[in-house]
Amino acid sequence: MTSAAFPGFEYRDDALHCEGVALAAVAAAVGTPVFVYSRGAIETAYRAYDAALAGIDHLICYSVKANSSLGILNLLARLGAGADIVSGGELYRWLKAGGDAGKVVFSGVGKTEAEMRSALEAGILAFNVESGEEIDVLDRVARAAGVRARVALRVNPDVDAQTHPYISTGLTQNKFGIAAAAARDAFRRAADLPGLDVRGIDCHIGSQLTKTSPFSDAIARLCELILSLASEGIRITDLDIGGGLGIDYGKDGDAPPPSHDAYGAAVKQAMSVLGDHQVRLLVEPGRSIVGPAGVLLARVLYNKDNEVKHFTIVDAAMNDLIRPSFYGSHHPMQPVRRSAAASRVTDVVGPICETGDFLARDRALPPMERGELLAIGAAGAYGFTMSSNYNTRPRAAEVLVSGETWTVIRDRETLEHLVRGERIAE
Ligand code: LLP
Repeated sequence: MTSAAFPGFEYRDDALHCEGVALAAVAAAVGTPVFVYSRGAIETAYRAYDAALAGIDHLICYSVKANSSLGILNLLARLGAGADIVSGGELYRWLKAGGDAGKVVFSGVGKTEAEMRSALEAGILAFNVESGEEIDVLDRVARAAGVRARVALRVNPDVDAQTHPYISTGLTQNKFGIAAAAARDAFRRAADLPGLDVRGIDCHIGSQLTKTSPFSDAIARLCELILSLASEGIRITDLDIGGGLGIDYGKDGDAPPPSHDAYGAAVKQAMSVLGDHQVRLLVEPGRSIVGPAGVLLARVLYNKDNEVKHFTIVDAAMNDLIRPSFYGSHHPMQPVRRSAAASRVTDVVGPICETGDFLARDRALPPMERGELLAIGAAGAYGFTMSSNYNTRPRAAEVLVSGETWTVIRDRETLEHLVRGERIAE
């Protein structure tokens, strides 16, 4: 992860650094496994979206699920970001981190009434409503609270995001959004309900998108709908196009994702069919803001060989970073102490009692001895947020680096934390 794709990380005197801080120093002080994030890289990624969308009215609603630690949310809130949330828990985090409720969009197919009430009370910008039944429930909940809920309807545009099937969301067979064919009727119905203030149209077709064309296709379908709704008097003022760009996971042969500027140009081009119909653009990037900015640091526990394989056993596992096991994802890896030794092919595995507990398979890495540190890159998004306590492993600490200084933004869990709220039956 010491390429242009990972701006916060480089070797200095053969020691891997995050900005001005040696990763070995962080590991020595905080222990491993630990997630380390570059503040500069997060800020740069956020600003790249802002710059790419300059010239059109826009709001960047950072997708909280990618990394919801208070220290990261606070950083983004201070940059002026809004938030894309999918639960009452994410709303709680965003507000606790100092985020602006007025810039929050609430997506998700299964909002509970209690979640709706808390979001109405906070005064969020909009609910991205995903079904006909949800339209009625939100109308009722808003009226009972004596308010009107600002709403966008999430349309499923039936566009292939060309990504991993688990994270493709804009196809008819996926559970998300209101079917394109039913969308017009849903807008008409919602527009007539007294508890709803229908302002927006929304879609999210998937994550880790490595081309601009699926974005353009989805925007084209939504713009067509915006114009046809306008012709019957339903005026849409917010166009939310969901998550952002994919990122470079450092796998040989994978095409790099488009630049922010190419994305911005494609979005503007696709929106140009709207002509005089002015809308505000909302985007909900997550992965591309925090993903490249984070590494997971692990320490080598053991090496072992059998007849067919070499294994590097480290102290991070699938409970810390589930992406390789769950999606077969590739994450770049480098020893923290640069080595000139010839690489060997190894499986990087964790201590968890499952064959599925691997961080890399058949990876060429320089030999690393017990006690050496390994940096696992592109781990800033969907790393900590998908981590668990499986095998009763405390979740990792998190550190935010800014220049020469660093802050522990989350302590490592203790064993006490792991049994909190549990009791033994009489
Ligand atoms: N908006 C909505 C409604 C979403 O569902 C998502 C991601 C995003 C925005 C952010 O998309 P991004 O900019 O990050 O591509 N755990 C998977 C990714 C799941 C994505 C779920 N939704 C992974 O580790 O690859």
